[in-house]
Amino acid sequence: PSNLRMEGRCSSLMGANCRAKGGAPGFKVAILGAAGGIGQPLAMLIKMNPLVSVLHLYDVVNTPGVTADISHMDTGAVVRGFLGQQQLEDALIGMDLVIIPAGVPRKPGMTRDDLFNINAGIVKTLCEAIAKCCPKAIVNVISNPVNSTVPIAAEVFKRAGTYDPKILLGVTMLDVVRANTFVAEVLGLDPRDVDVPVVGGHAGVTILPLLSQVKPPCAFTPKEVDYLTNRIQNGGTEVVEAKAGAGSATLSMAYAAVKFADACLRGLRGDAGIIQCAYVGSQVIELPFFASKVRLGRNGIEEIFPLGPLNEYERDGLEKAKKELAESIQKGISFVRK
Ligand code: NAD
Ligand code: LMR
Repeated sequence: PSNLRMEGRCSSLMGANCRAKGGAPGFKVAILGAAGGIGQPLAMLIKMNPLVSVLHLYDVVNTPGVTADISHMDTGAVVRGFLGQQQLEDALIGMDLVIIPAGVPRKPGMTRDDLFNINAGIVKTLCEAIAKCCPKAIVNVISNPVNSTVPIAAEVFKRAGTYDPKILLGVTMLDVVRANTFVAEVLGLDPRDVDVPVVGGHAGVTILPLLSQVKPPCAFTPKEVDYLTNRIQNGGTEVVEAKAGAGSATLSMAYAAVKFADACLRGLRGDAGIIQCAYVGSQVIELPFFASKVRLGRNGIEEIFPLGPLNEYERDGLEKAKKELAESIQKGISFVRK
């Protein structure tokens, strides 16, 4: 069978983990929606990650080609492709981390919530299979609208009796990546030296950069605060408009997704001090889901950090974010409960 050919003699005789060198753990990662605009570069970047020993690529179209292509990269991970619903469960069995970029992207003029009608059902179906086949895997949800798809995933897992809020994370890393880039431009710094916490959610006013907490510590004029907040909140739309109907952010998203996945895997490995922003089941404010800084470890989310001191501009932003977030969360929950 073609899978065996891709794994080579060593794996077929000794198991895929023989590829992990020096006693390091080799994690098994599945990408659902792997043939898409995000899925393909994400698959390439995950194949380059030395923490990964097995990479499963699942989609409803085109996975044989993407799998053949990626499998020729001379890195450690063994790649297997899975095509169509009937192969979904095989794609998931034994996985440590499942990344979900499946679903339709925006076109100019659309909000992320306009994707709900198609993507809610896709995420629900995929999460039902995760609950059945790998209920202990960490799940990274990328599919939009993230503010609703994470509550959908949680509700599916609750119904299946497998919900563990520590291992379900909505990926808001692209907001942080953008914030670091735009703030670095204003400050004249290298973006790699900048750290901007972005809390709330992942759509419009729910994206709340905490510019008062930027590291290294710095001061912005009110004009800079307005410019940066608007640019970070509308970064997705900026790309959607520039692509003019050909989709939304894919390359920067794949970069952000792999940065986030790598943090999850380093946490699982037991590395200390792994802190990232993510949209998670939370008690940081009164809403049941909220993005804030979390510490990742062997059990997934080990700690969720409070927001810290907010200035007046950020407190106003938080109030606006809460209203929209509450509606998006309720919409996701109702979709599964009805
Ligand atoms: P795309 O259309 O290029 O790719 C989506 C892939 O999903 C396609 O290959 C498609 O075949 C696949 N797919 C559709 N239904 C499926 C199913 N039932 N099971 C498995 N795969 C299925 O879209 P894209 O640009 O890769 O974007 C994917 C999603 O990610 C969109 O919803 C987009 O809005 C979202 N997104 C989120 C962020 C974020 O920051 N969280 C950033 C960018 C994009
Ligand atoms: C993004 O922030 O780039 C994504 O959520 C895609 C989008 O629709 O903007």
